Amino acid sequence: MNKAIYPGSFDPMTNGHLDIIKRASKMFDEITVCILKNTAKTPLFSVEDRVKIMENAVKDLPNVKVDSFDGLLIDYAAANDVHVAIRGLRAVTDFEYELQIAQTNRKFSKDNLDTVFLITSLEYAYLSSSTVKEIARYGGDISECVPEDVAKLVYEKFGRVN
Ligand code: PNS
Repeated sequence: MNKAIYPGSFDPMTNGHLDIIKRASKMFDEITVCILKNTAKTPLFSVEDRVKIMENAVKDLPNVKVDSFDGLLIDYAAANDVHVAIRGLRAVTDFEYELQIAQTNRKFSKDNLDTVFLITSLEYAYLSSSTVKEIARYGGDISECVPEDVAKLVYEKFGRVN
């Protein structure tokens, strides 16, 4: 089976992530969205909440599963016999960071984990989980950025009832 992992912190997942998942799900037999820790970030949602939110978002995509892992992506990939990671690229600014992670993962997995990049669709090129949180924190409108139920949960986190 032609499998891939889509790793990320997904805090929260956005319509941009969903777009990448849908496109990747047409290229691979099975996609596992894996919620991992990004040690550079303090999350808004617990891993359990992020898994639930993601499961709900992909419920209509039969070849997409959701999982979480507290450790290195390469260890998760090896344990699950997956050799491809998917990442979205929005702009040149993403590239240096992504290049370093992809090369690190390839090197430390002894060439067992390669990264496939999908270029983000134009309508989501501006979008990130961080901007969603920033906008919601100050009561801005995130309805075009995340699914409706996710927007509600994000506003709740900031004590807002938009
Ligand atoms: O959505 P993000 O925050 O850009 O995702 C980054 C993530 C979670 C994919 C990355 O930080 C990660 O893979 N974390 C797990 C630990 C790991 O394997 N790090 C990469 C080698 S330094």
